[in-house]
This record gives sequence, C-alpha cells and structure tokens, in this order.
Amino acid sequence: MVGESAIPPEKVPHHIAIIMDGNGRWARSRGLPRLAGHRAGVENLRRILRACTEFEIRILTIYAFSTENWGRPEAEVRGLMNILETVIDRELNHLHANGVQLRHIGDLDGLSPTLQEKVLHAVEMTRNNDQLTLNIAFNYGGRQELIRAFRRIIEDGVPPGEIDETLIDYYLYTAGQPDPDMIVRTGGEMRLSNFLLWQASYAEYYSTPVFWPDFDRDQLLKAIEQFARRERRYGLVPSS
Ligand code: FPP
Repeated sequence: MVGESAIPPEKVPHHIAIIMDGNGRWARSRGLPRLAGHRAGVENLRRILRACTEFEIRILTIYAFSTENWGRPEAEVRGLMNILETVIDRELNHLHANGVQLRHIGDLDGLSPTLQEKVLHAVEMTRNNDQLTLNIAFNYGGRQELIRAFRRIIEDGVPPGEIDETLIDYYLYTAGQPDPDMIVRTGGEMRLSNFLLWQASYAEYYSTPVFWPDFDRDQLLKAIEQFARRERRYGLVPSS
C-alpha cells in the first residue's frame, strides 16, 4: 500500500529522476523574478523528499543545473549557484539526521572552490546513510558524462573486447546505482534535455504540465500510480 492508493510495494519505482522544469514560468505567472521561482522550487524539493520517504522511494535524482544552463543570464547562474550553497549550508544537518545520502553527479570542476568544498563535504558526511539517496545533478550533461567515461576507459587501457554495459556503468557518475525506473518532467515539455542519456534507456517517462513548484505529494503519487499501471517489457513481447 502506498499512501491512500492500493499500489503494491513491488510496483513502486525504486529510483525516480526528475527534470524540475517550469520555475521561471511559475514565477512569471505571479509577476515575480525567475529566481523566486527557483527558490519556490527548493521549497518544493523539501516536500518531495518527504513524499519519497513516505512512498519508500530509495533513490531520487534531480536535474538542478545542466551544462547548458551556463548560457543563462549571469545573475540567474549566480543565483542557482547560491541556491546550491544555501541548500547545503541550511539543510545538510537535517538531511543527514534523516538518513539522506547526498551524491553529486556532474562536473565539479566548473564550480567555485568554495562550492566544490561544500559539495564534497556534504557527500562525505552522508556517505553511509541509507534511507534515501539524493543525487543532485549539478553542472551535469549526459553527453559530457559519456565523453568523460570513454576518455577514462581509454586512459585505463581497457581492451575493446572488455567494454560492455557493466563496464560503462562503472565509469558513469551514477556508478553502483540502479538505473532510474521513471523519469518525471514537470513544466510540460516532452524531451530529455541531455539528462541521464545512458541510464534512461528503459525508464518509464512521465510528463506533466504542472510547474515544478506546484508538483506536490499528490502529483507525485499520480505519477507513481501511472508507473504502477504500465507494463515494462524491456524490448520483449507482452506477458500473457
Ligand atoms: C528549470 O526551470 C529549472 C532549473 C534550471 C533549475 C532547477 C533548480 C531548482 C528547483 C533549485 C533546486 C536546486 C538545488 C541545487 C537543490 P526553468 O527555469 O527552465 O523554468 P521555465 O522553463 O519555466 O523558464
């Protein structure tokens, strides 16, 4: 049983990845600056983390800053960096106390030294927590992740015959984690936008027009209910 629904536990996605889109439009529709939308997005993340614990989702991956987001106006880029810093400063102890393991996926090098240090500290402090893993994709791009993996594979002198799916998994930021079962995109668009290109191969895709700051617990439950009704075939024929 999940929430008030009759979803059997084995039908609940183990790993959900979310493209948190629509913050800017949410803010504009209220006559607010875009950054107010991102701040409302952080508030919503708190709600969704609570809901994930309630629904016993074990891994949540959020797309917080893509490698393409550097092209946004400088003030917005700076604002998003500040948000990550503030989230770590204000929430780390609370997340740690609640058994959340924080992981960063993406290129740390592009961030300021202070932010890099904070991210590394948060990851180190929470590494043994096991209630919920929160992967923060920050300065993340799926293609960049694959390029990095291929470079490392070559640098390590791996013979071509040894390159298989397991080996590539091992070289990704998400090494050791199961692939997402469901990718949720808020804000109405129907594209992956360079998110988890390799890992999303067999994920169920769920898109909703609801803007991220309004995507609450009940919206998440709706997505899980839809996931539970889908038949995952992995390229095979329907089960009889
Ligand atoms: C997309 O909305 C959202 C982002 C680029 C940033 C998402 C960031 C947060 C929700 C803050 C949480 C961050 C951390 C670090 C925990 P958009 O701005 O593209 O919205 P629009 O399509 O309506 O313009």
